[in-house]
Amino acid sequence: MFRRRNKRKSSDPRELAPDPRWQPRPASGRDRPPDPDNRMIDLEDVHLSFGDNTVLGGIWLEVDRGETLVVMGGSGQGKSTILRIILGLLEPDSGRAYVHGVNVSHAAQEVLDEVRRQIGMVFQGGALFDSLTVGDNLAFRLHEEKKHDENEIDDLVVEKLSFVDLEPKVANLMPAELSGGMRKRVALARAIMGSPKIVLYDEPTTGLDPITAETITALINKLRDTQSVASIVVTHDIGAALAVGDRFAMLKDGDIIFEGDAEEVLATDNPDVRSFIDARMAGA
Ligand SMILES: Nc1ncnc2c1ncn2[C@@H]1O[C@H](COP(=O)(O)OP(=O)(O)OP(=O)(O)O)[C@@H](O)[C@H]1O
Ligand SMILES: [Mg+2]
Repeated sequence: MFRRRNKRKSSDPRELAPDPRWQPRPASGRDRPPDPDNRMIDLEDVHLSFGDNTVLGGIWLEVDRGETLVVMGGSGQGKSTILRIILGLLEPDSGRAYVHGVNVSHAAQEVLDEVRRQIGMVFQGGALFDSLTVGDNLAFRLHEEKKHDENEIDDLVVEKLSFVDLEPKVANLMPAELSGGMRKRVALARAIMGSPKIVLYDEPTTGLDPITAETITALINKLRDTQSVASIVVTHDIGAALAVGDRFAMLKDGDIIFEGDAEEVLATDNPDVRSFIDARMAGA
């Protein structure tokens, strides 16, 4: 079953202003008070079930500007679902998701379009259009928006390819001609075409050899450190998680059963987190 969003009410530009009900919580593990200017993502008590399957049973999450939150958890625990809720592709049954204070749950289509422009998404598997060149894949959204001329778009394509350490000529290749690592880099370049302030990554290193995975985690950190991007990285790969994460949350049975920084992850006695780390460290 695929849940489609209901038809939306007409747009109201005031909805792009922060929701007056929005009161950012202190990020877990932080003693300083929340700063609304720097708070990029808040999930507040988000519940979502598919029929009898309760996937999210009251999730709270926060991500600040310039920070990477890693979401860990077994297959089917709802990691991709959280990203879809932030993008407004799924609506929670109750609770709210805020992107820089704007409520994306039950928002009008125009509000969602605007919010999505601020978010880059690196999909599980890359999700490139196989019939388009790399350059056209990167330019796709900008072509749709019709706000830039061709020269500007070409320059942006070259700039973003260079950010992910790919040469301009890669723009002429078809996705089938790319290695797995290049494909992930192209997916990352596409996600940042609009210079988003938020980037969401779904399994960005899965299927890559360790050296190539390291080039991807280095790019994720470069984006955070040079552009102050706020990120959520969903991953099974504990090595990648530790390489990029400022904070970590583990999802199980609809709840966040652990939250902490890298030191706390490595030191925890929580049996689920331990078995996750130990199994992955052993190369499972
Ligand atoms: N549109 C949908 N309709 C019905 N069930 C869904 C839908 N999307 C997700 N689910 C269910 O929600 C649960 C969580 O799915 P999700 O894709 O978020 O898991 P995940 O943690 O990302 O798993 P993986 O690590 O395998 O990618 C699964 O049981 C899945 O079957
Ligand atoms: Mg998933």
